[in-house]
Amino acid sequence: MTPLYAVFGNPIAHSRSPRIHALFAAQTGVALRYEARLAPRDGLEQALAAFHAEGGCGANITVPFKFDAWRLCTRRSAAAQLAQAVNTIGWDEGGLWGDNTDGIGLVRDLARVLAAEDVHRPLHGQRLLLLGAGGAASGVLGPLITAGARAIALWNRSIDKAQALAARHSALAAQHGTDLQVVQSPPPHWADGVVNATAASLGGSGLDLDDGVLHPGCWAYDLMYAATDTAFVAQARAAGARAWDGLGMLVEQAAQSYTLWHGEAPDTAPVLATLRAELAASHHA
Ligand code: ATR
Repeated sequence: MTPLYAVFGNPIAHSRSPRIHALFAAQTGVALRYEARLAPRDGLEQALAAFHAEGGCGANITVPFKFDAWRLCTRRSAAAQLAQAVNTIGWDEGGLWGDNTDGIGLVRDLARVLAAEDVHRPLHGQRLLLLGAGGAASGVLGPLITAGARAIALWNRSIDKAQALAARHSALAAQHGTDLQVVQSPPPHWADGVVNATAASLGGSGLDLDDGVLHPGCWAYDLMYAATDTAFVAQARAAGARAWDGLGMLVEQAAQSYTLWHGEAPDTAPVLATLRAELAASHHA
């Protein structure tokens, strides 16, 4: 039987993951089925058990289930442990394992857009401002540290969540020489790069930031993506910054999941180009 994979979320109809994995499979000549599965909000555990009984080999996990998945796994990667969130699972003789490929996906896409020479430490020496402290932010903070950031200022609307996230990452930051601080308000004219991990773009509005937080000397990256510029990307460009949305990160995190399952790294560039074209076409249709 063709190996079965899926993405679980709620809602899930909008997910591009089945398309991305189908493109990877065609490119690498791997036979697989990859489906979008809707799970009830309180029913991930049952949904995964049924999926595995049906022959499911692995899955991606998206909103709002990344924390539930983390809880259910019997073995977790270091990245998943730091994030306290799992976006990739699989079954083997040891049971259910979980990893988190979101952060590595972001760092790989940043290496691409910034044309970094050192792809393993593309943020070497940079000062970063990370906006948000929810599930998305916790998935990327560890990899931003290990990608070489010199300093990271963490800001969130509710400061207690930022403090908890920073505390969980303090040992990693010390190990890598990253100055990790929680800030009460985002500092102007400070950051080399600003990463938006808040859900503000979902509401179609930018963030209420002081003048100069986004400035012509910095780059900006929104973890969200859309057929047209997200509100944050538009806000950053209006302030003179170079800015990108998170479609490239989506493809890169999928590629890393694909590598974990199939042992082969797909070429992401043509897949990203296809997705971007399809997104634009769906907007104009
Ligand atoms: P996700 O998985 O997308 O990160 P989440 O865990 O609910 O979702 O986190 C949403 C993040 O976006 C939080 O950091 C939230 O701030 P609070 O912790 O203060 O709720 C942030 N957020 C959502 N809407 C926002 C807005 N309009 N302005 C600023 N931050 C916002």
